[in-house]
Amino acid sequence: MPKQKRVFSGIQPSGEIHIGNYLGALKQWISFQAAAECIYCIVDLHSLTVDYDPQTLKGRIMDKAIAYLAAGLDPKKTIIFVQSAVPAHTELTWLLSVATPIGDLQRMIQYKEKSKKNPDNINAGLLNYPILMAADILLYQTDIVPVGKDQTQHVELTREIANRFNKRFGQTFQIPKTVLPEKGAKIMSLKEPEKKMSKSDGYDSCIFLFEEPDSIRKKIMAAQTDSGNEIRYNQRRKPGIANLLTIYSLFSDRAIPEIEKEFKNKSYKTFKEQLAQLLIEQLKPFREKKKELQGKEALIQTILDKGAQRAGRIANQTLEKAKKNMGLV
Ligand code: AMP
Ligand code: TRP
Repeated sequence: MPKQKRVFSGIQPSGEIHIGNYLGALKQWISFQAAAECIYCIVDLHSLTVDYDPQTLKGRIMDKAIAYLAAGLDPKKTIIFVQSAVPAHTELTWLLSVATPIGDLQRMIQYKEKSKKNPDNINAGLLNYPILMAADILLYQTDIVPVGKDQTQHVELTREIANRFNKRFGQTFQIPKTVLPEKGAKIMSLKEPEKKMSKSDGYDSCIFLFEEPDSIRKKIMAAQTDSGNEIRYNQRRKPGIANLLTIYSLFSDRAIPEIEKEFKNKSYKTFKEQLAQLLIEQLKPFREKKKELQGKEALIQTILDKGAQRAGRIANQTLEKAKKNMGLV
């Protein structure tokens, strides 16, 4: 039997998981579990690079673990762990930093965007963020990195860092590939459909994975659309309707033209009502699973501890190899 591919990805413990995260990343993570060796990480160290509250960090990490499990990650098949519990991540970050030109970091879109948004806190960690992400990925000799579109530039940089390192110090790292979902790699904001759905852009612009029915209905009914009245997919001219159609299609597993046909001559209101109903039904199992897991924090902590042990064993092997090749051991 050919060797299974290894998959690695991560999500920060900031904010709640929204359907953009789910459709762009988590849904792929879940489907890879059947055919690959998967390692999924709660990247707490990355989340320190913007303003945050140390008092609530632990709780947010636990919430993210509950969310992972409720969404369908299976700890029997998959390694789930917290980044800061495996020190190899920070150690490899330093080693990789000498193979990373500063200019490459300064041109990262996310660095520029976050610097603009937080002008009072442009810290060195924010600049070095992609090196830590490269360390996450490269420590596990990762083949595949399933992410949303906004992360492709970081994975591309990871490949460059790995190639540069391998060339200078000898073969050390597997070169990873990005895998984007066919559709849903960029779900847009409900309020401003020209921008991606993002938890930092306000509560009403996102539908959360564990959102209650009433609030789903309210947000979908209030979603921004254009002044026309046709339910037709046109990304440029009708970005709001295009986004809602994409969401409808992905949660119903039906093609967009089929949905357009069903809603031909129907109003935006009818379309939105049905979309809200669909989301309420499709998200119900997630809400239920989450309620089941709440109160089982001790069990979840054991899953994370075991995950960190397993991850640490793999990561340390790569770290040792990197140090040896750099002349450190
Ligand atoms: P973040 O919450 O920004 O740490 O992102 C976690 C994962 O969700 C990453 O793989 C992102 O690429 C993906 N993601 C975030 N926002 C969206 C979106 N609006 N549409 C699709 N994927 C997204
Ligand atoms: N930077 C990613 C994001 O904001 C999260 C992340 C950190 C990640 N390390 C990773 C994603 C490694 C994939 C692989 O979404």
